[in-house]
Amino acid sequence: MLSKRMQEALNAQVNAEFWSAYLYLSMSMHFESEGYKGIANWFAIQFKEEQDHATIFMNYINSMDGKVTLAPIDKVDTSWNSILHAYEETLRHEKVVTGLINNLYSIAVEENDYATQSMLKWFIDEQIEEEETARDYIDALKKIGDHGYGLYMFDKELAARVYTTPAPLANTAE
Ligand code: FEO
Repeated sequence: MLSKRMQEALNAQVNAEFWSAYLYLSMSMHFESEGYKGIANWFAIQFKEEQDHATIFMNYINSMDGKVTLAPIDKVDTSWNSILHAYEETLRHEKVVTGLINNLYSIAVEENDYATQSMLKWFIDEQIEEEETARDYIDALKKIGDHGYGLYMFDKELAARVYTTPAPLANTAE
């Protein structure tokens, strides 16, 4: 059973995950229009992953006999000055999400909610990976600078990214 406070915080996270999904979809569309298909692919997979995160939270609320309440999704930016700028924004955003997940965990501790603490552990690990990836790409992009061939190769590398179902949804996927 979720406390009212915990349920409200988890529902707020559902909205934050959908906002993240919308942000990355917007980035994907932006780079598609700029001719960077690999980067567009990377952000399109990020879009799917964020929807997965929202689904994991919704499934969890439901399995705890709670109620999912969906709220409007705020608008997102629609253009970025450069690929580096987009990844800097990605890292900045993921740090915010890490803070949100940590805050959820603090609430779960205060509420003596061990089930939610356990569920959140996957997200704590996931955020380490999310931040590390963005940081690695920022480092690479700083080295590349405005070098056209470097950006071409970077785009090619990101075209190879494939979507995989995250572990918490693996059992529910067909
Ligand atoms: Fe849902 Fe990128 O964290």
